[in-house]
Amino acid sequence: MSILITGGAGYIGSVTVEALRAGRESIVVLDDLSAGHREAVSPDVPFYEGDMSDVSLLNKIAKRHNIEQIIHFAAFASVPESVSKPLKYFENNTGKVAKMLEILREYGLKNIVFSSTAATYGDPQTPVIDEEHPKRPCNPYGLSKYFVEQILDWSDSAYGITHVALRYFNAAGALPEGELSADSHARGEDHNPEGHIIPLVLQTAIGQREYVSIFGTDYPTPDGTCVRDYVHVLDLAYAHIKALRYLEDGGKSQKINLGNGKGFSVREVIETAREVTGRDIAVREDARRAGDPSVLVAAHQKAAAVLGWEPRYASLSGIIQTAWDWHKNHPGGY
Ligand SMILES: NC(=O)c1ccc[n+]([C@@H]2O[C@H](COP(=O)([O-])OP(=O)(O)OC[C@H]3O[C@@H](n4cnc5c(N)ncnc54)[C@H](O)[C@@H]3O)[C@@H](O)[C@H]2O)c1
Repeated sequence: MSILITGGAGYIGSVTVEALRAGRESIVVLDDLSAGHREAVSPDVPFYEGDMSDVSLLNKIAKRHNIEQIIHFAAFASVPESVSKPLKYFENNTGKVAKMLEILREYGLKNIVFSSTAATYGDPQTPVIDEEHPKRPCNPYGLSKYFVEQILDWSDSAYGITHVALRYFNAAGALPEGELSADSHARGEDHNPEGHIIPLVLQTAIGQREYVSIFGTDYPTPDGTCVRDYVHVLDLAYAHIKALRYLEDGGKSQKINLGNGKGFSVREVIETAREVTGRDIAVREDARRAGDPSVLVAAHQKAAAVLGWEPRYASLSGIIQTAWDWHKNHPGGY
């Protein structure tokens, strides 16, 4: 039996693949490399380049590897792009998932760990968001993921396929070389175009960008900039492994937040990056962007109670330090 990792050549997927590899799990990766990198997956992991809804490819993988569990990362993940190209997001992030599950259930699929997102909640009604918060996604990306959560609920009631939908807040940081085992490899963020604040700040520190934009300085927060919850990518990887074990042990389907439970403003991120890098980081103050809530912070008690998961990288400087090591050593990405 192997665990199928869709999107395993992407940022969070490739770190999770390294963590599973270090634990000697039997895994297989499926990624169409639309945003991922072949180099991000070790050559000793079975790798299939292709689309998650490719029927003949899925049949081949399922027959060869006896797939009973999936960790499903594959998706398009840009909120602004989802607003301008909503159908692209509903097709890839929702439609293709239903098709993939329809094929794999015939081979005895039992469990799914799904990359969901804080974007399923929409505009926060409370400063700290727990899992019971209303789900009113305010962009097609968040809605495309919320649809999948519902597809998973119906797949549980109809076929008994159980799931943990992990609603991540902001993934950040990188996997240091040799962190997990003597032969575990460095993995980090390499998106093109890059839309996440920490890589943008660090690319500015390296000199690849002239400045980093702060979108909005008049939010009702202590320093006027948006506050977000950053969770280290290796902490995310461990949460996926714990979620798989939980399902294997007969745990029922769950929706669970993954965050640090602490918020940091954009200015705090930039100031911390200046301290970590010892470099000057130029900023430009721009207007607010549509659809950016002022504060997004996770309640993470449920992850502790159900999965026994706690973030190990609690400090912002620790998270940024790992990302800085990655960007310094891989200025051109993979
Ligand atoms: N990065 C974050 O902060 C964050 C936050 C919340 C949720 N998520 C979710 O986590 C998951 C991973 O995010 P990431 O930052 O690693 O993104 P990523 O873009 O680095 O990885 C996604 C991977 O999926 C692959 N992919 C996309 N469509 C595919 C398809 N049809 N068939 C096969 N492969 C396909 C891409 O090539 C890529 O390697 C995504 O589902 C994303 O929505 C990410």
